[in-house]
Amino acid sequence: MEFNTTESHGLLAGKRGIVFGVVDENSIAWSVAQRCFAEKAKIVLTNSAIAIRLGTVSKLAEELGVDLIAADATNVEEIKHLLDESVEKLGGKIDFVLHSVAMSQNIRRHIDYEEMNYNYFNTTADVSALSLHKILRCGIESDTLAEGCSVVALSFIAANRYMANYNDMSDAKALLESVARNMGGICGAKKGIRVNCISQSAVASRAGKSFEQMDFFREYTENMAPLGNASKEECAELCAMLFSDYTRKVTMQTIYNDGGFSQTILTDKIMDFFRTHHK
Ligand SMILES: NC(=O)c1ccc[n+]([C@@H]2O[C@H](COP(=O)([O-])OP(=O)(O)OC[C@H]3O[C@@H](n4cnc5c(N)ncnc54)[C@H](O)[C@@H]3O)[C@@H](O)[C@H]2O)c1
Repeated sequence: MEFNTTESHGLLAGKRGIVFGVVDENSIAWSVAQRCFAEKAKIVLTNSAIAIRLGTVSKLAEELGVDLIAADATNVEEIKHLLDESVEKLGGKIDFVLHSVAMSQNIRRHIDYEEMNYNYFNTTADVSALSLHKILRCGIESDTLAEGCSVVALSFIAANRYMANYNDMSDAKALLESVARNMGGICGAKKGIRVNCISQSAVASRAGKSFEQMDFFREYTENMAPLGNASKEECAELCAMLFSDYTRKVTMQTIYNDGGFSQTILTDKIMDFFRTHHK
C-alpha cells in the first residue's frame, strides 16, 4: 500500500510530541515525524547539533513548519532544556516521545565483537540505551511528560537472538528493551506513562547501512517473513498507533513489526532459493 503523508485519521489530534533521530530522509524517524504531523499532532524535532549540521533534518522541520531543537541524547542538561523548550513551544506537556537513537563506534570502525573497544562500548550503551533512561528520568523529574504519555523506542531482533556482525549494538538493544521495561514499570505507576519498544525490520537508513551485510539480510528477511519486511513508513504507522489513545493500556512490551520474521524458521520462498542454488 502506498504511504500517503497527507491522508489523516486525526489519530493524534491535540497531542504534543518530541521526535528524536531524524538525520535525513532515510531515517525511520523522518517517516514517523511525517505520519505524526499528518495525524494532526504538534511536534518538535530533535537531534544532536552535529547531526543537524551534517544531515537534512532542518529541511523537514521547514517543510512541516515545526521547531527543531538540538540536544545530545546522552547529555542530561541538554535533555532538560529540550523538554522545557518543547513544552514552551508546543503549549503544554508532552504526550508522546519517539526514541530513534543509536550509534556504535565499534561498528563504525569495523572492530569485531570479540575485540571490542570497551570505551566505545560504553558510548554505544549510553547513546543507544541509557539515553532512554535519561529522557524518562528528566521527564519525570521536570514533570514535563503528560499523564498517559506514550514513549516508543526502536529496537531490533538481535536484542535477544545471536546475529552475526550486529556487534555491540545487540547488547545495546537488549539493554534498551530492559530499560523500557523497568522504566515502564516505574513511570507507569508514578504517572501513567507507557513505554514500549518496536522491534523493526531492517531499513536501509544511515544506521542500517553501517551494518555491512544489510542488503543480503534484507533480502533474506524479505523471503523469510510471511508478510515481507516492514518498511519505515509501516513503522511510522505503528508508532502513531502506539502514541494514540487506542493503545492506552499497552506498556512494557517489545512489539515486532517484522512481517512475522521473528516467528518463522522456514518458508517456501527460502526453500525455493536453496533448490535453485543446488541445481
Ligand atoms: N535501520 C534499521 O535497520 C533498524 C532496524 C531496527 C531498529 N532500528 C533502530 O531505529 C533507530 C533509528 O535508526 P535509523 O535506522 O532510522 O537510522 P538513522 O541513522 O537515520 O538514525 C539514528 C539517529 O540517532 C541519532 N543519534 C546518534 N547519536 C545521538 C546522540 N548522541 N544524541 C541524539 N541523537 C543521536 C543520529 O543522529 C540519527 O538521527 C535506531 O535506534 C536503530 O537502531 C533501525
